[in-house]
Amino acid sequence: MNSEKTAKHFDLTGKVALVTGGTRGLGLAMARAFADAGASVVVSSRKAGACAEAARTIREDTGARCIGVPCHVADWDDCDALVAAAYGEFGKVDVLVNNAGMSPPYESLVSVSRELFDKVIGVNLAGPFRLSALVGTRMAAGEGGSIINISSTAAAMPTSSEIPYGAAKAGLQNMTTGLAHTFGPGVRCNCIMPGPFLTDISKAWDMAAMNDLFDRMIPLGRAGRADEIVGAALYLASDASSYTNGAIIKIDGGMSFAAS
Ligand SMILES: NC(=O)c1ccc[n+]([C@@H]2O[C@H](COP(=O)([O-])OP(=O)(O)OC[C@H]3O[C@@H](n4cnc5c(N)ncnc54)[C@H](OP(=O)(O)O)[C@@H]3O)[C@@H](O)[C@H]2O)c1
Repeated sequence: MNSEKTAKHFDLTGKVALVTGGTRGLGLAMARAFADAGASVVVSSRKAGACAEAARTIREDTGARCIGVPCHVADWDDCDALVAAAYGEFGKVDVLVNNAGMSPPYESLVSVSRELFDKVIGVNLAGPFRLSALVGTRMAAGEGGSIINISSTAAAMPTSSEIPYGAAKAGLQNMTTGLAHTFGPGVRCNCIMPGPFLTDISKAWDMAAMNDLFDRMIPLGRAGRADEIVGAALYLASDASSYTNGAIIKIDGGMSFAAS
């Protein structure tokens, strides 16, 4: 095998990638991988300090151009400003990753306030919609591009503790199909559907209970590491996936509700 020829399929030299929630966890792993593949990168999250720090680390580790821009994705004014900053700095966006997401815990379904419900929809669905509308429209009018949404296996297999979140992520998957039709042929839109990954989210897990769950539900018997999202992200961001559109790629060690 010629590794140089293989790497060419995944090369992002000259491309610009914007990753929301890019300061930690899966987002940071993807942003770093894009930079390693030659892209210039915009990392974003709510906290300005975290954005600056992630951008600095990526620049130092990879030599790529990288800026950090704070944005609360549920705030559409923030989304507009993020897109303006990305185009202002780099003149284009080739890859948009709608990765920022959250699933706040709740005591019971009746304890879920309207505010919490709206926040979950705002971060996991409305923000990605606004960013995709802004960036996808410009991609379609320009050189094209790739939009990657990060959903969750909760979209298909929601547990009682993540019902608003699962609904929002199911909406994100539905939106992936719609955007794949809307922005083609120049722009592809796909979705990565992760199962459990050991990021900051997992710090709130009861690990003994979760490990028992993994044993029963995941043939690989464990949660994923953040860097195990990178292969799919590089595939969808690059020309390697030039005929992949509207796809939902499940990365969950083979998880299913059927207990083994
Ligand atoms: N880890 C898992 O087990 C798992 C499983 C299925 C799906 N997912 C999905 O994968 C994505 C990444 O998850 P992760 O585990 O990497 O999460 P994480 O480690 O908690 O990181 C979340 C990132 O999103 C940012 N963020 C949070 N709320 C935001 C908001 N309102 N606006 C903008 N940025 C925001 C955070 O930074 P700030 O705090 O600075 O804003 C951080 O950079 C999410 O969409 C999540 O739903 C994760």
